[in-house]
Amino acid sequence: MITSVNKFLSVSGKSMKRSAIREILKLLQKPDMISFAGGLPAPETFPVEDLKEITVEILEKEGTESLQYGTTEGDPHLRRMLVERHNRQGLNIGPENLIITTGSQQALDLIGRIFLDPGDYVLCGLPSYLGGLNAFSVYGAKLKGICLDEEGILVEELAQTIINLRDLGRKIKFIYVIPDFQNPAGITIPEKRRKQIIEIAEKYDLLIVEDSPYREIRFEGESQKMMQELDNTGRVVTLCTFSKIFAPGFRVGWVIGQPQILDTIVMAKQTADLCTPTFVQKIIARYIEKGLLDRNLGNTIELYRRRRSFMLDSFEKYMPEGVTWTRPQGGLFLFVTVPGTLDTDIILQKAIENNVAFVAGSTFFCNESGHNTMRINFSFSGLKDIETGIRRLSGVIRDEMKRAGL
Ligand SMILES: Cc1ncc(COP(=O)(O)O)c(C=O)c1O
Repeated sequence: MITSVNKFLSVSGKSMKRSAIREILKLLQKPDMISFAGGLPAPETFPVEDLKEITVEILEKEGTESLQYGTTEGDPHLRRMLVERHNRQGLNIGPENLIITTGSQQALDLIGRIFLDPGDYVLCGLPSYLGGLNAFSVYGAKLKGICLDEEGILVEELAQTIINLRDLGRKIKFIYVIPDFQNPAGITIPEKRRKQIIEIAEKYDLLIVEDSPYREIRFEGESQKMMQELDNTGRVVTLCTFSKIFAPGFRVGWVIGQPQILDTIVMAKQTADLCTPTFVQKIIARYIEKGLLDRNLGNTIELYRRRRSFMLDSFEKYMPEGVTWTRPQGGLFLFVTVPGTLDTDIILQKAIENNVAFVAGSTFFCNESGHNTMRINFSFSGLKDIETGIRRLSGVIRDEMKRAGL
C-alpha cells in the first residue's frame, strides 16, 4: 500500500480544489432540506416520454452508427442543425465554426488547456461562475476580477486593469464574460456595453470567452446580440450548452468560433475524451429535428417565469428591510445582498441547520470579497417549497441581523 499519493501529484494536481458548490450539494440530501443552492433545471421539464420514443427510433434506424466512436468535432448532423438554428437567430456561421463538446464545462477546461500558461492572466467579472474560474486556475492562470454594475463588467476599470497589468509585464490572454443572465449575478449586458468590451479586446489584442448557457431562458425584455455576432475580428469564442435548455444529464454543449481556434480545441479534446458520446448526440439531433426542443423550451421558460415571480413575491413578503435582491429577466438565479456586516458563509451554516440552503456569494468572487451576498436558484423548487424555503431563510437572516444589532 502506498502511504501518500501526494508525492506523486503534479503541481496542478496538488493545487486542485473541490468545487464549494458541488460539495454543498452533497450535504443537502436530507429529506426535509429545501435547496436553492444548485443550478439545477426543474426535473419536470425533462422530456422522458419523448426521449423513450426517440431512443428506440435511433437504435432501430441508426443502431450501429450511434454506438460507434464519432468524430471529435461532433455529429455532423447535430452540428449542421445547430449552425442553422444560430443563423436563424442572427449569426452567419458554417459547420467549420461549430464543434460539439461534453458540456460547456469541458469547453472551459479545453480553453484553459490551449490558452493558459502558469502566470497568464484571465480577466473576469466580480462575481463569476466558479466552474469557469476553477477550470482556468487549474492551468496556473491568475484571475483578476473586474467590478460589475447593472450592465455588466465596468469598461473603464477593464481598460485600466489591462494597462496596469501590462505595465507590470503581465501577460493577459482573455476576458471571461457571461453576457446573458450572468451566473451568479443575473445581469445581461446590453449591446452598447458588449461592443465596448469587444473594442477593448481589439485595442489590447485579447480574446473573449463568451460563456452563454442561459441566453435562451428569457422571461421578458429583448434578447441581446451574441458577442460572437458583434465581433468581426474572430476573437470571440462562444460556449453554449443543452444543459439548461434540455437536460444536463446528456452532457452536450458546443463551441462557436473561428476554425483555427476550434482546430486547437479539437486537438485538446482528442486527448480528453476522443469524442462526445455519439448516442446522445444522435438523440438530441432527432429531438431538435422533430421540433421538440423549441416546444419544450417554451414550456420550461413559462415554468421558470412563474417560479421566478413567485420567489420575488416571497422575498417581498418575508425578507427583513435591509436585504436587497435582483429581479432577473431570465436565467436561473436571484442574487441577494444582506447588510454589509453580515457574512453569508455564517448564514449558510445556520440556514442548513434550518433545512434551507443557497450558495454563499463569496464563492464567486476571485478577490475574496462578496461576503454579504448569496446566490439563490429558483428553477428547481416548486412553489410550496419556494415559499417555505424563503420563509425559513428570512427567519435565519432576521436572527443574524438581530444578533448584529441591525
Ligand atoms: C456560466 C456557466 N458555464 C458553464 C456551465 C457548465 O455547463 P455544462 O452543464 O454545459 O457543463 C454552467 C453550469 O451551471 C454555467 O453556469
